[in-house]
Amino acid sequence: MSRSAKAVLIGVVGVAAAGGGALAVLVQHGVSARDEPTAMEAWVARGARRLATPRSLREAKNPVPMTPEVLDRARAHFADHCASCHGNDGRGRTSIGQSLYPKAPDMWHAETQSLSDGELFAIIKNGVRLERHRRGRQGDVGAGPLH
Ligand code: HEC
Repeated sequence: MSRSAKAVLIGVVGVAAAGGGALAVLVQHGVSARDEPTAMEAWVARGARRLATPRSLREAKNPVPMTPEVLDRARAHFADHCASCHGNDGRGRTSIGQSLYPKAPDMWHAETQSLSDGELFAIIKNGVRLERHRRGRQGDVGAGPLH
Protein backbone atom coordinates (compact mmCIF):
# COMPACT_ATOMS: atom_id res chain seq x y z
CA MET A 1 0.00 0.00 0.00
CA SER A 2 1.38 3.42 -0.94
CA ARG A 3 2.17 6.02 1.74
CA SER A 4 -0.69 8.31 0.77
CA ALA A 5 -3.21 5.42 0.70
CA LYS A 6 -2.04 4.47 4.21
CA ALA A 7 -2.49 8.07 5.41
CA VAL A 8 -6.02 8.17 3.94
CA LEU A 9 -6.86 4.83 5.61
CA ILE A 10 -5.56 6.05 8.98
CA GLY A 11 -7.59 9.26 8.54
CA VAL A 12 -10.78 7.35 7.72
CA VAL A 13 -10.32 4.97 10.68
CA GLY A 14 -9.63 7.95 12.97
CA VAL A 15 -12.76 9.80 11.86
CA ALA A 16 -14.86 6.63 12.19
CA ALA A 17 -13.50 6.03 15.71
CA ALA A 18 -14.21 9.65 16.74
CA GLY A 19 -17.72 9.41 15.25
CA GLY A 20 -18.34 6.13 17.06
CA GLY A 21 -17.12 7.66 20.33
CA ALA A 22 -19.41 10.69 19.90
CA LEU A 23 -22.36 8.41 19.10
CA ALA A 24 -21.66 6.28 22.18
CA VAL A 25 -21.63 9.41 24.38
CA LEU A 26 -24.89 10.59 22.75
CA VAL A 27 -26.61 7.23 23.28
CA GLN A 28 -25.41 7.07 26.88
CA HIS A 29 -26.31 10.65 27.78
CA GLY A 30 -29.22 11.41 25.42
CA VAL A 31 -29.96 14.96 24.32
CA SER A 32 -31.79 16.22 27.38
CA ALA A 33 -31.08 19.88 28.18
CA ARG A 34 -31.31 18.96 31.89
CA ASP A 35 -27.87 17.34 31.83
CA GLU A 36 -24.59 19.17 32.27
CA PRO A 37 -22.43 19.19 29.13
CA THR A 38 -19.80 16.44 29.34
CA ALA A 39 -16.26 17.62 30.10
CA MET A 40 -15.35 16.76 26.50
CA GLU A 41 -18.29 18.81 25.12
CA ALA A 42 -17.32 21.82 27.24
CA TRP A 43 -13.67 21.52 26.23
CA VAL A 44 -14.51 21.26 22.51
CA ALA A 45 -16.97 24.18 22.71
CA ARG A 46 -14.46 26.44 24.47
CA GLY A 47 -11.68 25.45 22.06
CA ALA A 48 -13.90 26.01 19.01
CA ARG A 49 -15.01 29.39 20.31
CA ARG A 50 -11.40 30.39 20.92
CA LEU A 51 -10.33 29.25 17.45
CA ALA A 52 -13.26 31.05 15.87
CA THR A 53 -12.25 34.38 17.44
CA PRO A 54 -9.81 36.11 15.08
CA ARG A 55 -6.37 36.50 16.68
CA SER A 56 -6.39 40.30 16.24
CA LEU A 57 -9.61 40.45 18.27
CA ARG A 58 -8.43 37.92 20.87
CA GLU A 59 -5.36 40.03 21.59
CA ALA A 60 -7.21 43.37 21.62
CA LYS A 61 -7.18 45.35 24.85
CA ASN A 62 -10.15 47.25 26.26
CA PRO A 63 -9.63 50.84 25.05
CA VAL A 64 -12.06 52.26 27.65
CA PRO A 65 -10.38 53.43 30.87
CA MET A 66 -11.95 51.80 33.94
CA THR A 67 -12.96 54.97 35.74
CA PRO A 68 -15.48 54.79 38.62
CA GLU A 69 -18.13 56.33 36.31
CA VAL A 70 -17.57 53.69 33.60
CA LEU A 71 -17.76 50.90 36.19
CA ASP A 72 -20.96 52.39 37.67
CA ARG A 73 -22.59 52.48 34.25
CA ALA A 74 -21.37 48.96 33.45
CA ARG A 75 -22.77 47.63 36.76
CA ALA A 76 -26.14 49.25 36.10
CA HIS A 77 -26.24 47.85 32.56
CA PHE A 78 -25.28 44.39 33.81
CA ALA A 79 -28.04 44.52 36.42
CA ASP A 80 -30.62 45.49 33.77
CA HIS A 81 -29.59 43.27 30.85
CA CYS A 82 -27.44 40.40 32.09
CA ALA A 83 -28.34 39.64 35.71
CA SER A 84 -31.59 37.85 34.82
CA CYS A 85 -29.42 34.91 33.74
CA HIS A 86 -26.02 35.63 35.27
CA GLY A 87 -27.17 37.03 38.62
CA ASN A 88 -26.03 40.41 39.91
CA ASP A 89 -22.90 38.79 41.31
CA GLY A 90 -22.15 36.92 38.05
CA ARG A 91 -22.46 33.50 39.67
CA GLY A 92 -25.32 32.40 37.39
CA ARG A 93 -27.55 31.25 40.26
CA THR A 94 -30.86 32.48 38.81
CA SER A 95 -33.81 30.35 37.80
CA ILE A 96 -33.40 31.34 34.13
CA GLY A 97 -29.62 30.91 34.15
CA GLN A 98 -29.91 27.46 35.68
CA SER A 99 -32.58 26.25 33.27
CA LEU A 100 -30.60 26.97 30.10
CA TYR A 101 -28.31 24.55 28.31
CA PRO A 102 -25.53 25.08 28.96
CA LYS A 103 -26.30 26.75 32.29
CA ALA A 104 -25.12 30.30 32.84
CA PRO A 105 -21.57 29.80 34.11
CA ASP A 106 -20.13 30.97 37.42
CA MET A 107 -18.12 33.87 36.05
CA TRP A 108 -15.86 33.89 39.11
CA HIS A 109 -14.24 30.68 37.86
CA ALA A 110 -10.87 30.77 36.11
CA GLU A 111 -12.45 29.78 32.75
CA THR A 112 -14.27 33.10 32.57
CA GLN A 113 -11.75 35.21 34.46
CA SER A 114 -8.97 34.16 32.09
CA LEU A 115 -10.84 35.28 28.95
CA SER A 116 -9.07 38.21 27.30
CA ASP A 117 -10.73 41.60 26.79
CA GLY A 118 -11.08 40.75 23.10
CA GLU A 119 -12.67 37.34 23.76
CA LEU A 120 -15.18 38.92 26.15
CA PHE A 121 -15.91 41.58 23.54
CA ALA A 122 -16.52 38.95 20.84
CA ILE A 123 -18.83 36.86 23.06
CA ILE A 124 -20.88 39.82 24.24
CA LYS A 125 -20.99 41.76 20.97
CA ASN A 126 -21.48 38.94 18.49
CA GLY A 127 -22.96 36.10 20.49
CA VAL A 128 -21.84 32.52 19.97
CA ARG A 129 -23.28 30.22 17.32
CA LEU A 130 -24.49 26.84 18.60
CA GLU A 131 -24.34 28.13 22.15
CA ARG A 132 -27.22 29.98 23.72
CA HIS A 133 -25.70 33.43 23.72
CA ARG A 134 -27.55 36.05 21.76
CA ARG A 135 -25.93 38.92 19.86
CA GLY A 136 -25.33 42.00 22.00
CA ARG A 137 -27.36 45.18 21.91
CA GLN A 138 -26.00 48.69 22.19
CA GLY A 139 -24.23 49.22 25.50
CA ASP A 140 -23.85 45.50 26.28
CA VAL A 141 -20.10 45.48 25.71
CA GLY A 142 -19.71 48.05 28.46
CA ALA A 143 -20.88 45.44 30.95
CA GLY A 144 -17.92 43.22 30.01
CA PRO A 145 -15.24 44.76 32.26
CA LEU A 146 -17.19 43.58 35.28
CA HIS A 147 -16.32 39.93 34.74
C1 HEC B 1 -30.84 34.64 28.47
C2 HEC B 1 -29.81 34.46 29.44
C3 HEC B 1 -28.56 35.30 29.34
C4 HEC B 1 -28.47 36.67 29.29
C5 HEC B 1 -29.59 37.70 29.34
C6 HEC B 1 -27.05 36.97 29.21
N1 HEC B 1 -26.31 35.82 29.21
FE1 HEC B 1 -24.30 35.64 29.13
N2 HEC B 1 -24.43 33.62 29.09
C7 HEC B 1 -25.61 32.90 29.21
C8 HEC B 1 -25.31 31.48 29.16
C9 HEC B 1 -26.32 30.35 29.23
C10 HEC B 1 -23.92 31.38 28.98
C11 HEC B 1 -23.10 30.10 28.84
C12 HEC B 1 -23.25 29.56 27.47
C13 HEC B 1 -22.67 30.40 26.43
O1 HEC B 1 -21.50 30.78 26.52
O2 HEC B 1 -23.38 30.68 25.44
C14 HEC B 1 -23.40 32.74 28.95
C15 HEC B 1 -22.07 33.06 28.78
C16 HEC B 1 -21.56 34.35 28.87
C17 HEC B 1 -20.16 34.66 28.77
C18 HEC B 1 -19.04 33.65 28.55
C19 HEC B 1 -18.57 33.12 29.87
C20 HEC B 1 -17.59 31.98 29.70
O3 HEC B 1 -16.88 31.67 30.67
O4 HEC B 1 -17.54 31.37 28.63
C21 HEC B 1 -20.05 36.01 28.91
C22 HEC B 1 -18.76 36.83 28.91
C23 HEC B 1 -21.39 36.54 29.07
N3 HEC B 1 -22.27 35.51 29.05
C24 HEC B 1 -21.69 37.88 29.25
C25 HEC B 1 -22.98 38.39 29.27
C26 HEC B 1 -23.29 39.81 29.35
C27 HEC B 1 -22.26 40.94 29.50
C28 HEC B 1 -24.66 39.91 29.29
C29 HEC B 1 -25.50 41.17 29.28
C30 HEC B 1 -25.16 42.20 28.33
C31 HEC B 1 -25.19 38.57 29.19
N4 HEC B 1 -24.14 37.68 29.18
C32 HEC B 1 -26.54 38.26 29.12
C33 HEC B 1 -26.88 33.42 29.36
C34 HEC B 1 -27.20 34.76 29.30
